[in-house]
Amino acid sequence: MGHSLKIACIGGGPAGLYFAISMKLRDPRHEVEVFERNPEGVTFGWGVVFSDQTVENLMANDPVSGAIISHEFAHWDDIDVHINGACVSSSGHGFIGIGRKRLLEILADRARELGVVIHYEQECDPDLAAWQGWDLVVAADGINSRFRETYADHFGVDVQERANRFVWLGTTKKFDAFTFAFVKTEAGWIWAHAYRFAEDCSTFIVECSEQTWLGLGFDRMDQSEAIARCEEIFAKYLDGRPLLTNASHLRGSAAWLKFRRIICERWHYDRLILLGDAAHTAHFSIGSGTKLALEDAIKLAEVLNRPGLGRVEALAEYQSERTLEVLKLQNSARNSTEWFETVERYLHFEPWQFAYSLLTRSQRISHENLRLRDPAWLEETERTFWKTSTGTAKSAWPMFAPFRLRDMELQNRVVVSPMAMYSATDGTPNEFHFVHLGARAQGGAGLVFTEMTCVSPTGRISPGCTGMWNADHVTAWRRITDFVHSNSKAKICLQLGHSGGKGSTRLGWEGDNLPLADGNWPVIAASDVPWSPSNQRPKPMGRAEMEEVRDQFVSAVRMGLEAGFDMVELHAAHGYLLSGFITPLQNVRTDEFGGSLENRLRYPLEVFAAMREVWPADRPMSVRISANDWAGDAGVTPDEAVRIAEAFAQAGADLIDVSAGQTWADSQPVYGRMFQTPFSDKIRNEARLATMAVGNITDPDQANAILTAGRADLVALARPHLVDPMWTLRAAAQANYRDQWVPPQYLGGMAQMARLFEREAEMKATELKA
Ligand SMILES: Cc1cc2nc3c(=O)[nH]c(=O)nc-3n(C[C@H](O)[C@H](O)[C@H](O)COP(=O)(O)OP(=O)(O)OC[C@H]3O[C@@H](n4cnc5c(N)ncnc54)[C@H](O)[C@@H]3O)c2cc1C
Ligand SMILES: Cc1cc2nc3c(=O)[nH]c(=O)nc-3n(C[C@H](O)[C@H](O)[C@H](O)COP(=O)(O)O)c2cc1C
Repeated sequence: MGHSLKIACIGGGPAGLYFAISMKLRDPRHEVEVFERNPEGVTFGWGVVFSDQTVENLMANDPVSGAIISHEFAHWDDIDVHINGACVSSSGHGFIGIGRKRLLEILADRARELGVVIHYEQECDPDLAAWQGWDLVVAADGINSRFRETYADHFGVDVQERANRFVWLGTTKKFDAFTFAFVKTEAGWIWAHAYRFAEDCSTFIVECSEQTWLGLGFDRMDQSEAIARCEEIFAKYLDGRPLLTNASHLRGSAAWLKFRRIICERWHYDRLILLGDAAHTAHFSIGSGTKLALEDAIKLAEVLNRPGLGRVEALAEYQSERTLEVLKLQNSARNSTEWFETVERYLHFEPWQFAYSLLTRSQRISHENLRLRDPAWLEETERTFWKTSTGTAKSAWPMFAPFRLRDMELQNRVVVSPMAMYSATDGTPNEFHFVHLGARAQGGAGLVFTEMTCVSPTGRISPGCTGMWNADHVTAWRRITDFVHSNSKAKICLQLGHSGGKGSTRLGWEGDNLPLADGNWPVIAASDVPWSPSNQRPKPMGRAEMEEVRDQFVSAVRMGLEAGFDMVELHAAHGYLLSGFITPLQNVRTDEFGGSLENRLRYPLEVFAAMREVWPADRPMSVRISANDWAGDAGVTPDEAVRIAEAFAQAGADLIDVSAGQTWADSQPVYGRMFQTPFSDKIRNEARLATMAVGNITDPDQANAILTAGRADLVALARPHLVDPMWTLRAAAQANYRDQWVPPQYLGGMAQMARLFEREAEMKATELKA
């Protein structure tokens, strides 16, 4: 744009004031006026936290206010987690905090110095018609923005109210560390997030579930009663210091909020632009709301002052660039919000693991990130992980810790996930499978899965799928398991499945779930629901067919034993036959195998139990499930997945292999790094079962974090193993971990790779120092 503008800024919070400053700095000719409904110096809240990066951005934008702010920051490095009578302290976290009131004072002074007019005690009318004569109206009016609500349809507003209750209090107790204190009361758990933001003042946010809140009677207390109760609950941490409120104008229990997550599809409409919390919010537990507000302000001022950029393009750039940043933070914030909402499931953890889980809750902080922050603490955590899970304390990556299922001992916790290779003829694995599986076993993973191996010719997905229904299959598989056992330390698991309604389709690379060009065979399923309009309508299974298929599974298990497998997995995921019974999206039966979850599980459990009966008691069995149909309440939900896992465990499953989706053609999965791990976490820690996580886990750092945080017991990688059979050996070289078994023929390569990694790390360290 580049010409002077007359701008009304609604709201004298961080976003409004900093935007006004940023506009005037770029061009003093702009006329910018800020309208704030509260009197000067009256504001909610206590302190806010920033990262070093945010401070750098502020310094680059306005060194004057940046210098004052940096000078006044309270800085602290430690995080203390108090849980079950223990305190777990870690360091190197580098936070800085400042009082909200003081921040606004600094910004207001700076804005006035630059010629911004600030009107206090002015409630603004959210009707744009009231703002004739202004070129732009910037709605920086916070989380409850009336301007956003007035034009909600234009902005495409999505508001989600979260489950927990919280209240933002202060205290004169000086917390030297960022403190999380979890306290068990007669009505449930309640906790505080506390940090110092000035010499003698700390923020003290109290949070609990709605149930605990009601149980403690907070809904019936006025503010002073609630504060007195919180002082009692947290007395141990307050050293006799009082809790304070600066929302005393709020009556009854109104100071207790439920966090509202706000997303807007569009951030501008006509002359009206949303900024800061008005446009988006990020949960207080990752402390980034003010950062986002300030960085929005900088970006908006920048695009509005860029010569040659029209208003439409300027605003489009403002939104597109900021949306990306906001989405990233909102993702982390969602993980963090959910962690606190489901904290009950972690409260039985040992304190060290509880603290680790808390620190890595948003998935922004990884295992190696924690090492950079506090190497000694992480090393001790690793030792404790090894000690508690293997009996031997060792300072090494958790992914290398052995794991036992029944009598099967895995050398480490890395798993080659099952992957259909579409390369067999008449179900018989051939030279391809021999090399493929053999190479992956030599690559160091603790456990290698076969692809979904089908129990009958018509139970195959494609004509290229492997099978286990005749003696040729047993011989061919035996050759592979013999190789794996004599040339590696890996164990090998046979995944057995039946394609159901998703059968009779082409090879993977010829099109996803497309019927064969010719030679299709009739398909069976729980019900006559076709996978998609272009797939066959399956024949619903009668009892005789169900028994026949159950017996095929049993016979395949017997052959699996003969073929030398260490473990068997039943594939009950991804919309194939058994998964089709479990999901209500495919199962519309009205007999005892349809309807309730108990009914829908009846047949898959019958199959599993029959398999378990013939599989030796000293060898483990697992089941792969789809823990979420990604269909809301219409399909299997993660809550139901916990019940599904429990039912299979009761039938003898030693491990739940937690996948998700692929159970109906139009599902809308929410992809991302480690996107299915939350389901494994939920099942492991709510049902207390051993689980395997899978899905977009790509590097050792992620695997170590998942295992140390107790989100899974094993970590499976599929696609990474397609391009790198040596994924585990590479990780061992990177970690300089000497106890990983390496094929003796390959030792020279390992030593060289370890040296290269070491040199690379040294160079990085030298660069960092410089
Ligand atoms: C419990 C809690 C803890 C938090 N902790 C942190 C933290 O540690 N770090 C962090 O960065 N962020 C934190 N936040 C978030 C942070 O407070 C907000 O993200 C930040 O204040 C957003 O700035 P803003 O300027 O967009 O909105 P606000 O700060 O909400 O400012 C909006 C202003 O607009 C005014 N206003 C509203 N409507 C009108 C109207 N119609 N007319 C005139 N004036 C109006 C309001 O009075 C207010 O002053 C926390 C929030 C909560 C609730
Ligand atoms: C080529 C290919 C074939 C697959 N075949 C199977 C299979 O036979 N059985 C199964 O349970 N999952 C199968 N999967 C799913 C993977 O095991 C895994 O769950 C999924 O790819 C997500 O993991 P990733 O992100 O590490 O690839 C397959 C995946 C790929 C890429």
